[in-house]
Amino acid sequence: MQWLFNLPTAIWRRLLLILQGLWALIWLIAAGIGALLGKGGTIGSRLGAAIGGPEGQRKVFAVLRLFQPNLVIKRKVIASYPNNGVTAIATRHTDVTDILTRDADFGVVYGPRMEMITGGENFFLGMQDTPRYTRDTSNMRLVVRRDDVPTIVTPYVSTAAAEIVAMVPGKIDVPQALTQPVAAGLLDRYFGTPGPSQAAIAEWTTLLFWYLFIDLQADPDLDARAQAAAASFRDWMDGHIAARRKGRKTDDVLGRCLAMGSAEMPGMSDRDIRNNLIGLLIGELPTLSATANLALDELLDRPHQFAAACAAARSGDDATLAAYVFEALRFRPLNPVVYRRAMRDTSIAAGTLRRRKIVKDSIVMASNLSAMFDPLAVPDAPSFRTDRPWETYMLWGYGMHACFGAHINRAVLPAMLKPLLAQPNLRRAEGERGQIDKAGTPFPQHFHLEFDT
Ligand code: HEM
Repeated sequence: MQWLFNLPTAIWRRLLLILQGLWALIWLIAAGIGALLGKGGTIGSRLGAAIGGPEGQRKVFAVLRLFQPNLVIKRKVIASYPNNGVTAIATRHTDVTDILTRDADFGVVYGPRMEMITGGENFFLGMQDTPRYTRDTSNMRLVVRRDDVPTIVTPYVSTAAAEIVAMVPGKIDVPQALTQPVAAGLLDRYFGTPGPSQAAIAEWTTLLFWYLFIDLQADPDLDARAQAAAASFRDWMDGHIAARRKGRKTDDVLGRCLAMGSAEMPGMSDRDIRNNLIGLLIGELPTLSATANLALDELLDRPHQFAAACAAARSGDDATLAAYVFEALRFRPLNPVVYRRAMRDTSIAAGTLRRRKIVKDSIVMASNLSAMFDPLAVPDAPSFRTDRPWETYMLWGYGMHACFGAHINRAVLPAMLKPLLAQPNLRRAEGERGQIDKAGTPFPQHFHLEFDT
């Protein structure tokens, strides 16, 4: 009889899928007409501005979820990693999670560029489900411990962010003054790898993250800059590891690695330590900084929710503050898709009407953004709500390769923003300065806010 009670919910969710898809289609048509008739720039640039932003992306995915949940196109979307020129885009929650857990069918692509960065070796994000993957992730989990989050990571971030905000005179360029320095400070204080300077470590990690994950068109200029950054990064890490071996013992991530290396644990030679830490550092700095800015920007666009988040920051209600930050990120995740390559001929959504054959070497994009708005899986998906279960959020991947820093992210992002959100009358600076400026990179580099002192 249970099915009888589930039937109304199932019908209602499908109705929402249809209504939301149709509404998104109308929205996109209106945006398209607006771009066609608009002035300034080319039609392409006007169209990009109208539907290329986060809201436009969500509308495109709503249409796809209804009409073509698993779209397959004969177009080479990614030139930076080998593939056969066919690209599939999965949009429904059930297919996205299915793809990201079928590691034997859909493998990670990043190996070749990881090997360029380390000068030969792969890093575990670029590895398939192999014994080497298990060894390396296990080693790194022994040094980056979950226990450290409440005892070292969060206290450091809270103190550092509060000190910075206390020092600025009512005006702050958030990425430059707050989020990059705090993320870089964590690399120093917790990882034991400060880099030759904060500017250098920020530049290397940002450039190499861009090269690994965002440079889909394989820009030769970026390639040259990434090669140079990787060589400098390796040289600095080699020198730093050698110096740390001679110096006094410190209980930070690098110190723990060195102890494991001294105990001759497999996969923990100085070269292995260098390569693993380079991988972690690239994952840490640009992502934490960028994501904090995206959350802030999304909240500022929603005055009601922004006021509630600020009130939570002021009253020390950390759980409520975190709920606002992560719900904001559901609307603005750093990455809207996670991509894989088909390891063999296979299919998505087998046994359903939306089944698609996937030929070996096709690129498969699983949209985590779309999954988080799928009305078949997420109740009241279009609304901004702070009572969602944590499992709703697919903000940093899913499955075997889900973010190594997940627990760090969950603690650090609200802690980093809290002292700023607690300031009276926090607002955007006037004009363009109060909008995110990526300064030619894929990440926020300038974002000016003001508050009363
Ligand atoms: C909010 C900040 C962050 C975001 C948005 C983010 C995003 C992601 C995503 C989407 C993936 C999955 C990639 C894929 O499956 O292709 C991932 C994996 C990974 N992230 Fe993060 N990340 C963040 C912070 C961090 C931090 C702080 C670290 C380091 C402590 C880190 C290290 C890694 C590593 C090593 C992996 C690979 C995990 C594996 O292959 O098992 N990330 N991250």
